[in-house]
Amino acid sequence: MPDFPKDLEAAILSLKKEMNAVILAHYYQDEEIQDIADFIGDSLELSRKAASTDADVIVFCGVKFMAEVAKILSPQKKVIIPDLQAGCSLEDACQPGPFKKFREAHPNHLALTYINCSADIKALSDIIVTSSSAEKIIAQIPKEQPIIFAPDKYLGGYLARKTGRDMLLWDGTCIVHEQFSEKELVKLKTRNPKALIIAHPECPEPLLKYAHFIGSTSALLNYTIEHAGKEFIVLTEPGILHQMKKKSPGSIFHDVPGTYGACASCNNCPYMKLNTLEKLYLCMKNSTPEITLPEPTRLAAKKSLDRMLEMTK
Ligand code: 13P
Ligand code: SF4
Repeated sequence: MPDFPKDLEAAILSLKKEMNAVILAHYYQDEEIQDIADFIGDSLELSRKAASTDADVIVFCGVKFMAEVAKILSPQKKVIIPDLQAGCSLEDACQPGPFKKFREAHPNHLALTYINCSADIKALSDIIVTSSSAEKIIAQIPKEQPIIFAPDKYLGGYLARKTGRDMLLWDGTCIVHEQFSEKELVKLKTRNPKALIIAHPECPEPLLKYAHFIGSTSALLNYTIEHAGKEFIVLTEPGILHQMKKKSPGSIFHDVPGTYGACASCNNCPYMKLNTLEKLYLCMKNSTPEITLPEPTRLAAKKSLDRMLEMTK
């Protein structure tokens, strides 16, 4: 067991100063990580922040594909992550070999790809989207242009219904959002009839049908701020409840249990939750694990990411 200082937060803040680092965190991180971060955001906001920071080191508290985006957009900076094993089921579901074949089978299609994928997949894509940028980007693509959407079939299905576009969908899912229990959701709504149901578009359609509002993590947070004082049932990873409660202390929030695997009630992202305050301290102290990418992959991935940033200015 490594030795940890008594005051971990103070040690992290002192390392941050020494390294001229910025700590970026996603809403699904542990509360104590969110509390020490310089910036918390959804995937699009975190990408923009990574591209614009003047820090020498980006400490990325999120999953690996998010830290890779920081490296792709800010190659001159060192990017470190508390746990390199923090992956994503959507990234796992879309491997470069099969994706390349899929593209070759549909040569006239534009590849619109969700940011939840590896740098290799970004390098094989035309435009990257996030849940907060996708609709704006699709609106700029000519109606006659056929589209393939990977890797999230539920987000893709939601976007196809919302925009009226016919899209060929890759068969990937988020293991957290696809496992929310409809039975528990209905029970919660029956017992709390005034509650507004808000959902992330990674949820399957049968769950989204109950939602009063659908959006990215930041959009969900903003909705609860705009409706402060009300009661909410939140269909996304419960890490975000920390910011919701902080911003609207007078509101009531319910998370929804999942039905995944052996655990009948867990709805936490097993990848996001690999990062801990202890691992954050160690990664800053040792400046590792570091995100590195082959330059040709980085440059090709940057093209599709830059298109997203340009189209959502
Ligand atoms: P957001 O871009 O909405 O934060 O989504 C990231 C994610 O991984 C959701 O599961
Ligand atoms: Fe990936 Fe789902 Fe975890 Fe988000 S919540 S990082 S989509 S596995």
